[in-house]
Amino acid sequence: MSAIKAAVSSGSQKTGELAKLIQIPYPVASDDQLIIKAVAYAANPTDWKHIVLGWGPAGSVVGSDVSGIVEKIGKNVKGFEVGDYVSTTLHGNHLQERGAFADYVIVDPDTSLKFDKASFDEAQLAPGTYPPSPIKNFEGAAAINLSLATVALSFADSLKIPDDKKENADTFILIWGGATSTGIVAIQIAKLVYGLKVITTASAKNHEFLKSLGADVVLDYRNPDIVESIIKVAGGKIAYALDSVSSKETYQQMYDSTKGSKKVAFDNLLFLTEKDIKLDPERKSDTFGGTLVYLATGETQVLGDLVIEATPELIRSYKHFWYDLLPPHLAQLKTPALRVLPNGLQSTNEALELLRENKVSGEKVVFRA
Ligand SMILES: NC(=O)c1ccc[n+]([C@@H]2O[C@H](COP(=O)([O-])OP(=O)(O)OC[C@H]3O[C@@H](n4cnc5c(N)ncnc54)[C@H](OP(=O)(O)O)[C@@H]3O)[C@@H](O)[C@H]2O)c1
Repeated sequence: MSAIKAAVSSGSQKTGELAKLIQIPYPVASDDQLIIKAVAYAANPTDWKHIVLGWGPAGSVVGSDVSGIVEKIGKNVKGFEVGDYVSTTLHGNHLQERGAFADYVIVDPDTSLKFDKASFDEAQLAPGTYPPSPIKNFEGAAAINLSLATVALSFADSLKIPDDKKENADTFILIWGGATSTGIVAIQIAKLVYGLKVITTASAKNHEFLKSLGADVVLDYRNPDIVESIIKVAGGKIAYALDSVSSKETYQQMYDSTKGSKKVAFDNLLFLTEKDIKLDPERKSDTFGGTLVYLATGETQVLGDLVIEATPELIRSYKHFWYDLLPPHLAQLKTPALRVLPNGLQSTNEALELLRENKVSGEKVVFRA
């Protein structure tokens, strides 16, 4: 096979025209990588942001999350066989030869998950919306990979949460934005892997769902008393705080909500630092970090003018999470609700616009190859 179909950024910012379908060469993987035949894709905010904010040039293959079937295995890769069902996350949207929204995709083993075929239903989901459930099909597999790798880096490396459940039993993590794709995974990992108590914020309609995932306290971020309510319920016991929305406003709210807690590790997903918020000069022990999911492959990342390196410690912490801590819990993890679009790769533009226009709530937009 010489040419394959791919969705690439068009160079246009017009609504519904961010991406177009073209033919690109069949990908060439290294000895450390796999190639999968794509089956389902999931859209992430980073996909439209790369296009609209100019993080990647026009003509870059779009997409960061894909699931599919292993076709080729590099000679250094262990633990995979041709025909395996996998999902993966990659830094798409900035290269002409590589992105998730293509017929065949290059896969790094360290950001991939392998699924038990016996518990998988290969049938394509009809267009529509499906409630959250454990991963049991290609659409669900595509929907969770990037969020999981993000939470892995945030919790294991940035926040440095100890993986001793007994030590964490009386400690709170505050997850701002529990109904984001990241938050939905973060709540479950905080409970299942780390045994933390979880306080989270979301619209009222998502409260029961987030409680069903294990959140101990869910509060409405639109409530004017949100900060005071969190301070009261936390009783000074917040040690970790992840802002999965990551605006300056939410970062400030999250910081203020930890008043009374002695030593808090803060994390966010959009390069915010402590300089972006007003700090309480009395608080000297807090730490501030940032998470970038693409570092999970261990490669240096370039985003516009930013060049960010994966430290050996980051790679060690991430791999410990991915290979030691996560596997016993993978079968239990629930995906967000799935919003399945009808038109294969042609759905790329619709998916990007739904995210650009903030039209998703507690759900992941997915579509088939
Ligand atoms: N650095 C990285 O590696 C990395 C990785 C993943 C994501 N990100 C970034 O992180 C952000 C979240 O991505 P995502 O895919 O997880 O999100 P998403 O699923 O697109 O987020 C949608 C949700 O955001 C919630 N939300 C919006 N404003 C909020 C507020 N003020 N307070 C609390 N919740 C609010 C809404 O909750 P309700 O429906 O309950 O209102 C909605 O359900 C994006 O900016 C993305 O680009 C970065």
